[in-house]
Amino acid sequence: MEKKAKTVAILGGQWGDEGKGKIVDWAAGYFSVCARATGGNNAGHTVYLKEGKHVFHLIPSAITWEKVDCLLGNGLVIDPFVLLQEIKVLNEKGYTTNNLFISGQAHVILLYHKVMDLSLEKAKGTGKIGTTGRGIGPPYADKMHRQGIRINDLLDKKVLYEKIIQNLIDKKSSFDTDNFTSKLLEVIPADHFFDFLRQEIQSLGNKPSLSETAQLLTELYFSAGKKIFLYVADIHQKLDAAQVLGKNILLEGAQGLLLDIDQGTYPFVTSSNSSLGGLNTGLGISHIDEVYSIFKAYTTRVGSGPFPTEINDETVQYLREKGQEFGSTTGRPRRCGWFDAVITRYASGINGPKAIITKLDILSGLKTIKICNSYRYLGPKRLFNGEIYFKGKIIRDFPADSTIL
Ligand code: IMP
Repeated sequence: MEKKAKTVAILGGQWGDEGKGKIVDWAAGYFSVCARATGGNNAGHTVYLKEGKHVFHLIPSAITWEKVDCLLGNGLVIDPFVLLQEIKVLNEKGYTTNNLFISGQAHVILLYHKVMDLSLEKAKGTGKIGTTGRGIGPPYADKMHRQGIRINDLLDKKVLYEKIIQNLIDKKSSFDTDNFTSKLLEVIPADHFFDFLRQEIQSLGNKPSLSETAQLLTELYFSAGKKIFLYVADIHQKLDAAQVLGKNILLEGAQGLLLDIDQGTYPFVTSSNSSLGGLNTGLGISHIDEVYSIFKAYTTRVGSGPFPTEINDETVQYLREKGQEFGSTTGRPRRCGWFDAVITRYASGINGPKAIITKLDILSGLKTIKICNSYRYLGPKRLFNGEIYFKGKIIRDFPADSTIL
């Protein structure tokens, strides 16, 4: 990295899991601020602390450096109970979280979002996205519908109740309201930390009215808000002040370019902008000095969707075992493929030309290593982005659409 650089971004160049976290861990000590802009606890990043293995989902791993302020920007969707669990576990391991700051404008993932995430996936059948099931898409949809609940709303019981009841009324048709209590119970994580939540939801009984459900959810999320209150800050102002003071700032991207809602393999994407643009909107930051895209020396993808260089022979087992290619959040085995230079070319156009390649060592031992430089289109003739696609056409520029790939 250039010495004079002050605000540096680390972004995923593929479908996530490129090793961004490792780079952030390594670099964090050189920075005063580390910020996340998008996504939620769909992300997962395993590190080995002195106490052993630890998986971060929401909080940047730089939190273990007391002198580094860790910021969660307005572009995130935050499950308050998952956040509180992460804070508790870190505190129990002896790490202070006094250096954590959360935007009051970030949106909240509520239990009903997780119910919606799962039922939307079920309804899609074989066309499912393969989401992480953490309820990411629905709060982003609410945000765009201008009916989302933000962290600041958790701090005002009246406002919170009004927003929750309105959301329940609007979403009523997409819920099986007869089984709503059992649906809410299904999406509560098994961990003992969430036992209180399970008990409270159970107390609703079989057929609660919407207002009873809204009342209980208000109590639960208001109590979470009271605990989170201490961490809430104006993230844009903090970043602005840090830049004025000439502090080094590290921006930690989540997921990867091809999971970006606009630039990725739509619709098999996440619901936020995981490319460079997401950093600007998700943090309200005025400038970024250096941007690095991280690529694995091969490619992986979790969930459904196109994957041009996917490997379908025994090499997958080799890469999966040697590279430990299992999802940090869901434990799902990752799909594996060869390095795809069409993607790197695309990433360079969107995120900029600087790249870091990780996990090259995993390829050692393989007799043949393949690299893809272009695709051959095999589908029916069609128009896409103003061009005619016909069988046999050679594609050098990544077409970000699942019907072409
Ligand atoms: P969602 O973000 O849970 O809605 O999932 C949408 C798609 O993004 C699915 O294919 C997920 O597997 C994928 N995804 C979300 N977060 C990550 C991640 O951190 N690493 C890899 N894939 C992810």
